[in-house]
Amino acid sequence: MSDYYIGIMTGNSMDAVDMVYATVDENGIRPIYTFSQPFSALTQSDMAQLRIDVKHCKSRNDVLQLPRFRAIHDAYIHQLADAVCRLIADNRIPLETLKAVCSHGKTLDHCPPSLNTPTPYTLQIGSGKMLADEIARRCQQAGICDVPKIRVIYDFRSDDLLNGGEGAPLIPPLNAFIARQEKCFNRIDINAGNTSNLCLIRNGEAVAGWDIGPCNEYLDYLVRRHTDLPFDIDGQIARRGSLNKRLFRQLFEIGADFYSMPPPRSGDPAYYHTKEIARFQDKTQLADNLYTVAYLAGYLVVYALQFITGEIPATFSLFGGGWKHPIIKQSLYDILRQNASYILPEHKGIFKNIYQRLETPLNITLHPYGQWMESLLWARMGYCFDKRIPWTTPALTGCKTPTICGIEAVSDLNRTTSDYDDCISRAYYQ
Ligand SMILES: Nc1ncnc2c1ncn2[C@@H]1O[C@H](COP(=O)(O)OP(=O)(O)O)[C@@H](O)[C@H]1O
Ligand SMILES: [Mg+2]
Repeated sequence: MSDYYIGIMTGNSMDAVDMVYATVDENGIRPIYTFSQPFSALTQSDMAQLRIDVKHCKSRNDVLQLPRFRAIHDAYIHQLADAVCRLIADNRIPLETLKAVCSHGKTLDHCPPSLNTPTPYTLQIGSGKMLADEIARRCQQAGICDVPKIRVIYDFRSDDLLNGGEGAPLIPPLNAFIARQEKCFNRIDINAGNTSNLCLIRNGEAVAGWDIGPCNEYLDYLVRRHTDLPFDIDGQIARRGSLNKRLFRQLFEIGADFYSMPPPRSGDPAYYHTKEIARFQDKTQLADNLYTVAYLAGYLVVYALQFITGEIPATFSLFGGGWKHPIIKQSLYDILRQNASYILPEHKGIFKNIYQRLETPLNITLHPYGQWMESLLWARMGYCFDKRIPWTTPALTGCKTPTICGIEAVSDLNRTTSDYDDCISRAYYQ
C-alpha cells in the first residue's frame, strides 16, 4: 500500500520553495502534485546576511541572539506554511491521506568531518513544531479540517553527522531507488543547484556520491549583484559572452583544494569564496563573466569523474535547476563528448584518463522529475523515517553505521512561540 507525503525543499540558491505531494511505497516514488513559490528578493538577502552572521556564532544561543534571527526564521516558516496550504487547497488533498510534511529547512552553515575540523556541525534552521502548528492553523482557518493533526519530519542531516558522517549529500539513495524503478542499473545522476553533486549507481545501488562544487552559486551571485534579475534566465546574458581564460583559471584556483579532494566530501557555498570573485568582476564584462562561471560549472562535473574507479558509466541523468542554464548544460555535453573549448593545460592528463574510462555510447538525459527531485528526497526520507529504514551508509557519507535520519513534530495549537526550541538542527554547537 502507498503512503502520501509532502516534501519541501528550500535549497542554497534561495530561488524558491519547491514542494511535491508524492506517493511512496517500498518499490517506488511518484510525484502527484507539485508547487513552487519564488522567494522575494528581501528573503533572499535576509538569508544571505544570516549566513554571514552565523559564521561568528559559537553556540545555539549566539544564533538565537542574532538581532534578526527570530524574525527571519519565523517569516521563512510562514512562507513554507502558506505554500503547503496552497498545495493542499488547490489540489483538494485529503488531510487524512497525508502521512507527513517533510521539510529540509534552510542550510545556514555546514562544517563536515572532511574539513578536518575538531567540531563538525551542520546548521539548518526551520522549526518542525512551528511549521506543523502553522500548517494546522491555516488548514483550520481555510475550513479544510476542523481539528487538523499535521506531522512534520525534519532535521534530516543531524543524525548522520552526529554518527560521524558528512551529513551530505543525502540524495544518492534516492537516485538509486528511482534508477531501479526505471530499470536503469548503471548510471551517473548529477544534481545541479547552487552546488552540484554526483551519484554513481552500479548494479542498481548508489556506490558513491559527493558534492562537486559550485554550479549556480557564482552565476546567481553575479546576476543578483549587477542586475534586478533573480538569475540568468535561460542564459540570456551569458549567451552573449565568451570564455575568459584568465578568469577561468582564477576561479578554478579559488576552489582547487576542494575540487581535488577525494570523496566522501560535502560542500557549502561558504567554501566557494564567492565574495573573492567580486574583486575581478566588472559589470561591463558581465556576459563574459557569466559565460565563464557557467562553463566552469560544467567543467567541474567532468573533472569530478576522475574520482570514479574503473569504468565510468555512459548514461548520465541530470536534474536540478542548473541544467536550465544553456551554457552549463552545453559545456557538460561538449566536454563529455571530448569537444571541450578549453581545458587547463595541467588537467589534460586527468581528462584523457577520464575519456579512456568513459563507456560508450554516451546517453545524457534531463530527468523528468527535474526540479522536484530534491523535494521527492525529503518525501522518501520521511517514508524511511516512518519505517525505521536507515538512509545513510558508511560508504556514502562516512558515517560509522547505517543511520536513520530525521525527527518528527506533531501540531499542537496550544503551543506558544517560546515552545519552538527546535529551530536549529541538532548537530550544531550546544
Ligand atoms: N530558466 C532558468 N534559466 C537559467 N537558470 C535557471 C533557470 N531556472 C532555474 N535556474 C537556476 O537554478 C537555480 C535553482 O535550482 P535549484 O535546483 O532549485 O537549486 P537549489 O537546490 O540550490 O535551490 C536558480 O537559482 C538558477 O540559478
Ligand atoms: Mg531551489
